[in-house]
Amino acid sequence: MPYTQMQGAATPVPVVGTEGVRLKLADGREIIDGLASWWSVCHGYNHPHILAEIEKQLRVMPHVMFGGINHEPALKLARRLANLLPEDLNHVFFADSGSVSVEVALKMAVQFWLNRGVQGKNRFVSFKYGYHGDTIGAMSVCDPLNSMHAHFKGFLHEQFVVDLPRDNATVAALDDLLSTQRDRIAAIIVEPLVQGAGGMRFHEPEVLEALRSL
Ligand SMILES: Cc1ncc(COP(=O)(O)O)c(C=O)c1O
Repeated sequence: MPYTQMQGAATPVPVVGTEGVRLKLADGREIIDGLASWWSVCHGYNHPHILAEIEKQLRVMPHVMFGGINHEPALKLARRLANLLPEDLNHVFFADSGSVSVEVALKMAVQFWLNRGVQGKNRFVSFKYGYHGDTIGAMSVCDPLNSMHAHFKGFLHEQFVVDLPRDNATVAALDDLLSTQRDRIAAIIVEPLVQGAGGMRFHEPEVLEALRSL
């Protein structure tokens, strides 16, 4: 378990199979996996269509790198993702986890300014109760207090972790931060719909609109 002291951790439960929403345990019991293996199996385990497609693809070509080459299945997925996103978001970078995708996004934001010849914009604005992952860069933009990361203070990059712009005072505070620190701030990072790990706090549409307008 992440962030769990091994000496006090419970013994892991052996699983021998999966089906639909269920985990089959070694002792014969079956339990419902309400977490869907941390949301990665949202269509259920052993879904026949997904299994068939994986088997088919494994025989054709299990994996190739994206270093100067690509392939139709990746292009197809990229097109479908781009179609789901607002009009100007038409580029896709595949990463191997949520945390790595956040690392990539942070680096892209820093590189954006460097490409424009602007130095020093390498800090981020993020929000209290936010969670963006467990790699070092992603940890730095999480809420440092209301999270599992408090022990790592001093090790992580210092970012601007502020209140979500919910009312006049917090909108003004964020506006002020963006003005006074504009030479240091590369980007704002926010969970798109809900602050999940921070307590299932759903964003009000007005908050996201306020952020977009800043
Ligand atoms: C909003 C958000 N960003 C990033 C992550 C990190 O994803 P991963 O666990 O795949 O690294 C999570 C994981 O729950 C998340 O909820």
